[in-house]
Parts: sequence; C-alpha cells; structure tokens
Amino acid sequence: MERTTPVIPAQDVAKQREYCQEIRAINAAHAAPPTAFVDTYGCQQNVADGEKIKGFLEEMGFGFTEDPEEADFILFNTCAVREHAEDRVFGNVGALKNTKRRHPSVIIALCGCMMEQEHVAERIRRSYPYVSLVFGTHVIHRFPELLLETLTSGKRVFSRGDESEDRVIHEGLPIHRDGSVKAWVTVMYGCNNFCSYCIVPYVRGRERSRTPEAVEEEFAALVRAGYKDITLLGQNVNSYGKTLDNPVSFAELLRRLDRIPGDYRIRFMTSHPKDATHELIDTIAQGTHISHHLHLPFQSGNDRILREMNRHYDRAKYLDLIRYAKEKIPDLSLTSDVIVGFPGETYEEFLDTVSLVREVEFTSLFTFIYSPRRGTKAAQMDDPVPAQEKSRWFQELCAAQEEIAAKRCQAAVGTVQRVLVEEEGKQEGMLSGRTDGNVIVDFPGPRELAGSFANVKITAARNWILTGELVSPQS
Ligand code: SAH
Ligand code: SF4
Ligand code: F3S
Repeated sequence: MERTTPVIPAQDVAKQREYCQEIRAINAAHAAPPTAFVDTYGCQQNVADGEKIKGFLEEMGFGFTEDPEEADFILFNTCAVREHAEDRVFGNVGALKNTKRRHPSVIIALCGCMMEQEHVAERIRRSYPYVSLVFGTHVIHRFPELLLETLTSGKRVFSRGDESEDRVIHEGLPIHRDGSVKAWVTVMYGCNNFCSYCIVPYVRGRERSRTPEAVEEEFAALVRAGYKDITLLGQNVNSYGKTLDNPVSFAELLRRLDRIPGDYRIRFMTSHPKDATHELIDTIAQGTHISHHLHLPFQSGNDRILREMNRHYDRAKYLDLIRYAKEKIPDLSLTSDVIVGFPGETYEEFLDTVSLVREVEFTSLFTFIYSPRRGTKAAQMDDPVPAQEKSRWFQELCAAQEEIAAKRCQAAVGTVQRVLVEEEGKQEGMLSGRTDGNVIVDFPGPRELAGSFANVKITAARNWILTGELVSPQS
C-alpha cells in the first residue's frame, strides 16, 4: 500500500492567505463591507469544506448573509450523490440568472463534488455563462488564488486540480464554524471502496488520513473553545490511518481523543461494516466521551445485492457485528443508510432489507431510492423495475421503520436522558437538544441552558421526537 500522504507545504497555505489579503484590499475599495452567501448541499464532509471556504472568505473581509439577493459573492457547494441533489443545484443556479441581471456585479461561484465531474463543469461552461468561478473538491486550498484570478482577469475560471491533487492533505486553513456547540473534524479524505452505485470515490479522490497529532490538536482546541458535540468525519473512518507512515487504527485515534479532559461528546461517521472491528465497539463501550451511537450503513439485507454493490460483507457478518455491539453496549443507538431498487433487485431481495431492519431495530434510517450515477459500474447494469414500483417498496420500508422508531421512542418514555441543549425550541420557552443516541428531545427550560448538558425525564413521544421535563441542569 502506498504510504505517506503529502501535506500541502505551509508556505503554500501562507501564500493563499496572502491572496486573501489582496482580495481584502480590493474589497476595501467598496463603499460597504462585502457579503457572501454560501449554500452547502450534501453530507457533513461538504459542510466541513464549506466552513473552510468561509474561513477564507472571512479573511478576505466578507461578512455573511442568508439572502443571495443582497450578496456580493454567491457560492453553491454542491453534492453529486444522487440525481435529485444535482437537479436541485441546477434549478437554483438557473434561478441566479435573474439575480445576476439585477446585480451585475455579483460573483457567482460553484464548488464541491458535482464540479469534479467533467460533464457537469462542461454544462456550466456552456449553459450558465453568468457563473464566473467553478472549482472542485481537490483544490479547496487554492480558493483564494482562484477567486483573485476571477476578480482580476475578467475571465471565467474553471479548476479541478491536476492528477496529484486528489491525494494531498491540507492543514492550517482558516475555519469559520457555523455553530458554537457542534463541530466537525475531518479525519480523512476520499474513498477507495468504489461501491458500484457510488460517485464519491470519483469526486473525492483517494483515501488519505490526517495524522493523529493534527486531529488531536484541532479537537483539543474545540474542546477548549467550549464545543460539546464533535463529530469525526470520513467516508469510511474505519480505514483511518492505514496510509500513514506510522499506521494508527481508528479505534486508537478515538482512545487518544477520549483522553482529552473536558465535558463533551465524540461522534463519528461513516463506518463501513467491512472494516468495523470488535476493537472499535470495545472502544466505544469503554470510552468516557464516546457517544453510544453507531451509524453503520448496511445498504441492503440481501447477499446477492451486497455482492453486486461491491460492499465486501454479507448479511450474516453485519448481523454478527450488531449482535456483538448490542451485547457490549446495551443502550447503543444504531442508525443506517439503505438503498432501495438497486439495478436488478427483486421484490424478494428487497424483503431481505425489510427483515434486516426489523431484526436490528434502528433508531432511525436514511432511505434512498437508487439513482444511477454516470461513470459508476451500477449505471451500466440492467434496471428493469419501474420507478413507481421502487417507490412502493420505498414506502413499505419507511412504514416498517416508522413502526420501529415509534416503538423505540415509546420505550424511552419514563427514562432520564442526558441531553445536550442545542438551541431554543420553536415554541416560546421550549428548548431542543439531542440525547447521546442522537434523538431529538424538546422540553421547557431557560434559554441559558443552550450549549450545556441537562438531565431530562422523557414524558412523551410523538413520531421521532421525544418531549420531556428538566430534572437537573448539569449531569
Ligand atoms: N461513505 C458512506 C456514505 C456516503 S454517501 C458509506 O459508505 O456509508 C451516503 C449514502 O448515500 C450512502 O450510504 C448510500 O446509502 C447513499 N447513496 C450513495 N450513492 C447512491 C446512489 N447512487 N443512489 C442512491 N443512494 C446512494
Ligand atoms: Fe460511496 Fe462506498 Fe465510499 Fe461510502 S464507502 S463513499 S458508499 S464508495
Ligand atoms: Fe455528496 Fe460529496 Fe458528500 S457527493 S454526499 S457532498 S462526499
């Protein structure tokens, strides 16, 4: 296996920050401080990238606005995982045509996973002439340089980086974090798994890990700054550390972070079942700060479909892992991702997915209807089942899960849960937070509790949301 992941040299990052200052000088010439509208689609990895781009924008002197109509700079950070995600982006970019007509000086930019696909970049080039800057996920660290070029050359700028840039790591980029309670820390980039339906390995490049020291440093700073719920991110965190000079397992990384003193929770996503180990489960069980929550996508409950998906585990292995995890962590909250209607899937094969869902009893499930992605292996496969039929299967699965979620929520009534209060609830005087298992709890309480832990007695459950009453502010 190829070792050593090149880290972008510190002087290159420093150079980018100089470009930020050049843009700041250009911005200073404007009457009012400029504002940016940044809209991120897709997964938390994209959200984390968006926070880095916002970090750069802040250094350039931009403030942020929620209204694209009043922005000087508009950026869509896009997701390519399903057709629906792409359609939304194209629709919203289409609507910017009028915005650009009303405000000709606005700079419109697109970045993220969609832009790593040549055919998408080409479509933008051809059909959306008012988009001035397009850059992919591999060149985020060069955003200041690319924006400066857009501003000074008067030309449209397109960049997807070169061959080598999908295997590097950046450190030391500024980050503008959106929240003050929850934070994201990317521990690894890219994916090598090539699940046959998935576009991610094509748009995120090869798997590469940050060093445990770099992760620890960022994590400890977040704990010091008062963050209480920190999620470690990677497409498959269980293969973390394999390409480092001194390989470290993900379980070892978790133990190192867990030793950092403070009042906080660690979460992580996503875990691929093929690489999830008993060591990982033991580490969660024995941890001080590690949430009793495991997101372990199984995608299908049928062995033939799992093989076709190139997932490298079977139903029995998945259920063994779940059995071990439930035994070691009785209050474990399990969540998962599922695909309905993979090419060639029959109704009987789909029913294996439903039976797995009933057997495991997930807290919640992210269910998706298969969406063909250009360039993936599955997109070449015969897909005879009509969309309407898949839609019926989808409803059947959702109904099964709703029943399970309702039952699980009901079982929580009467228990006392440690809840991290995130924000004020929608109703006056109500707070909203999440349990260790990531379930939402609404309860009445003083707003000063936002950002801290509270013990809440669960009094009722409706749909997936629990309601309760405050027992004690701190636990
Ligand atoms: N790396 C993560 C998932 C990343 S994508 C993992 O392996 O679990 C998030 C989810 O989107 C996947 O788990 C899968 O359920 C879904 N997904 C990915 N590609 C898809 C496609 N082509 N059609 C429908 N759902 C898809
Ligand atoms: Fe996609 Fe599979 Fe990689 Fe997850 S592990 S990002 S589903 S290829
Ligand atoms: Fe979408 Fe890219 Fe994440 S394709 S799901 S934003 S890695």
